[in-house]
Amino acid sequence: MKRLTDILEQRISKAIGTVTGQDCPALVKVSADAKFGDYQANGVMAAAKKAKTNPRQLAEQIVAALDVSDICQPPEIAGPGFINLRLKEQFLANRLLEMNTDKQRLGIEKKQNPKTVVVDYSGPNIAKQMHVGHLRSTIIGDCIARLYEFEGHTVIRQNHIGDWGLQFGMLIAYIEFRSKLALEGKVVGVIPNSLSDSEEFYIEAKKLFDTDENFQERSREATLGLHSGDKTWLGRWELLVAHSKKHYQEIYKELNVTLTDKDVCGESFYADKLAEVVETLKQNNLAVESDDAMCVFPEGFQNKDGNPLPFIIQKTDGAFLYATTDLAALRFRIQELKADKVIYVTDARQAQHFQMLFAVVNMAGWTNDAIELMHVTFGTMLGEDNKPFKTRTGGTVKLKDLLEEAVQRATAVVEEKNPDLSAKQKTEIAKAVGIGAVKYADYSNNRNSDYIFSFDKMLAMEGNTAPYMQYAYARIKSIERKAAGKDVDVENELANIKTLTFTDDAEKDLAKMLIRYDQAIDAAASECRPNFLTGYLYDLAQSFSRFYNACPVLKADNADQRRLRLLLCELTARTIQHGMSELLGINVVEQM
Ligand code: ARG
Repeated sequence: MKRLTDILEQRISKAIGTVTGQDCPALVKVSADAKFGDYQANGVMAAAKKAKTNPRQLAEQIVAALDVSDICQPPEIAGPGFINLRLKEQFLANRLLEMNTDKQRLGIEKKQNPKTVVVDYSGPNIAKQMHVGHLRSTIIGDCIARLYEFEGHTVIRQNHIGDWGLQFGMLIAYIEFRSKLALEGKVVGVIPNSLSDSEEFYIEAKKLFDTDENFQERSREATLGLHSGDKTWLGRWELLVAHSKKHYQEIYKELNVTLTDKDVCGESFYADKLAEVVETLKQNNLAVESDDAMCVFPEGFQNKDGNPLPFIIQKTDGAFLYATTDLAALRFRIQELKADKVIYVTDARQAQHFQMLFAVVNMAGWTNDAIELMHVTFGTMLGEDNKPFKTRTGGTVKLKDLLEEAVQRATAVVEEKNPDLSAKQKTEIAKAVGIGAVKYADYSNNRNSDYIFSFDKMLAMEGNTAPYMQYAYARIKSIERKAAGKDVDVENELANIKTLTFTDDAEKDLAKMLIRYDQAIDAAASECRPNFLTGYLYDLAQSFSRFYNACPVLKADNADQRRLRLLLCELTARTIQHGMSELLGINVVEQM
């Protein structure tokens, strides 16, 4: 079914056009205060200004020219020219019935003009375990990808892993070095057998690199060898990559994140395109030599002293940089992947890098106004001491350990709440609750704010948390189970509803919340803000609580009333389930 706000927007804009002869948006929004109605149009004031007329009078003319009688009661005008709209019960009832018939999408249509959207997220650096620094990009990016996909766009996930560069040269040189040590019987094991081996090797290699000039030289040779496709070096490097890939795929699975192996398109993928990128920019006189490096100077970027800031694309020794790879990658995404929109998800510290990247790509003519380039930034995860999140000893927190602890702590919550469940059920629930809590806590914050990572807060049963939402869902499911115990065939009853009659305000309030799900999704998708979705889900759960306190379901006055109330229960459950598991990737459970 068509989005309600779209229908209202269209009709009111049309009425504005009829009256003023001008093109003006109606600006339809959900009313902030239900006292004034359910929706309001705020566009009349601007239209009056444009038409140089009195806004209140204009509002009256617009209302006279407007037909929304199939949806709303007669519109009311308030203040300087707001148009307030109150939904008719019949309209509300029909929407619920339509939602009821569409189990998969709750009646929400796909967007008319689907786009190709590239979402670049996660991007861990290989040969190291994923740490909390990659958590936010991974899960925020995943929610964005899921949102756009649900809206009907073609989403191309890109995992731009860090798998190229000097540190890998150093590592593979160390593997070579280690084989000599092994021959002398000084170490056991030459090849890293796991990611933690790689990490240990990395520490050793770095020590050597910092103290031994010969090793430094060899590392550079190894990097060069790798970059020119030498088989021996490449073989060693491939080993490292394989261990890392396996590791982060496990983490993605644990996090219920949709990234797969085929979404990996790391820095190494662009290696053979870098020279040509630099060459093209040079030929177009965009790249110039400055302080011995190849630089592009996009307009409007300055350093602290007010001098033009360079976007460095090649160092004197010929080495390419992170920036060069990103230029090649963005060009590839636009030209080969045919992206209409490219979304990058990284922390705010990379803001300037992406601003400059977009500016340079624009200078090069590789993008145009129809293509939207977006950097989605986020703040820092803080510990309870308000400082960047670290282990007790000050080290970086490994994601694997963090998730393990979350599940462990959730087990205690489940144990307390429902000790009678079977061990298998407890394990399943603890996993959903623990991982869900970590993800939901992140999603429910404004992504640009820093937030304090607190297990106690995220696992609380009160407030806007995953366990609260999961519990809200499980509670509705238990109502349905109870109904079945009383010989009410819920599925059958809901399948055969043709009409609905409201008998209580709390029913209508909940119904109005339910039909707004599409808007929450649109808002979350267009601004890449998962908190718009969690905020909606929380409001919905609270609206459900008010309804459930006011309106007995199984002890309703009659069969019609019971049926409507059962439908409200079921649609609330389905909405929560959809939002949580389809869009946020957080599992819900049937009981808790
Ligand atoms: N590997 C990078 C990091 O750890 C993130 C990559 C982001 N994507 C990009 N196209 N630059 O910071």
